[in-house]
Amino acid sequence: FSKLIVAIDGPAGAGKSTVTKKVAKALHLTYLDTGAMYRAITWLVLKSRIALEDEKAIAELIKTVTLCLIDDFKQETSQILINGENVTKNIRTLEVTQSVSLISAQVAVRNKLVRHQREIGCSRGVVAEGRDIGTNVFPDADIKIFLTASVEERAKRRLIDYESQKLENISIHELKKDIKARDYQDSYRKIAPLCKATDAIELNTDGLTVEEVTSQIILICKSYV
Ligand code: C5P
Repeated sequence: FSKLIVAIDGPAGAGKSTVTKKVAKALHLTYLDTGAMYRAITWLVLKSRIALEDEKAIAELIKTVTLCLIDDFKQETSQILINGENVTKNIRTLEVTQSVSLISAQVAVRNKLVRHQREIGCSRGVVAEGRDIGTNVFPDADIKIFLTASVEERAKRRLIDYESQKLENISIHELKKDIKARDYQDSYRKIAPLCKATDAIELNTDGLTVEEVTSQIILICKSYV
């Protein structure tokens, strides 16, 4: 498995993070959370008080940015540092979540992050989660999974996440609205929009437990090797 590339794409809240971490741990591969990278850049843009639409200023800002992902697959955790600052928690706020799609649609941001993601994938086996992994970042990935779930189910899962991590108070109604808006922005942007790769296996996770989804994906990976 050491050089295996597993791509896990899908819309917001389909359960990608939890499942991807578990699959990476089981297969002893690096967990690559590409959403966290877009979130970290978004956090920096917000902190720098640059307008989200100011592509020129953002392109300039990120020229010298350093991103560092620390993966501890034994603990199923990962940390992200931007310019040396640990922003693992800061990138999960509502403000970042509601702003990230505007940032991830920008060409300079995508070019920088996709290059970084490919460098990581070149050096070792990864289980990468995102929106364009199977279609754009690693089009030759060994295994491609497209995880989906109904908006209803995804909002319920996000609510549990928010409550357990003691993030902001948010209603299920607002979560549904956010999820739909983000799906729309991510699916209709010009560059590398969210879509299922033609050779991806689609898994609808409605009504399935994390363990069930994880073991299905591990089975698919094992049958590949
Ligand atoms: O997966 P997560 O919710 O953390 O992703 C945050 C956002 O980052 C997505 O809504 C999308 O705008 C962007 N993203 C992306 N391409 C990826 C991963 C995430 O555009 N490969």
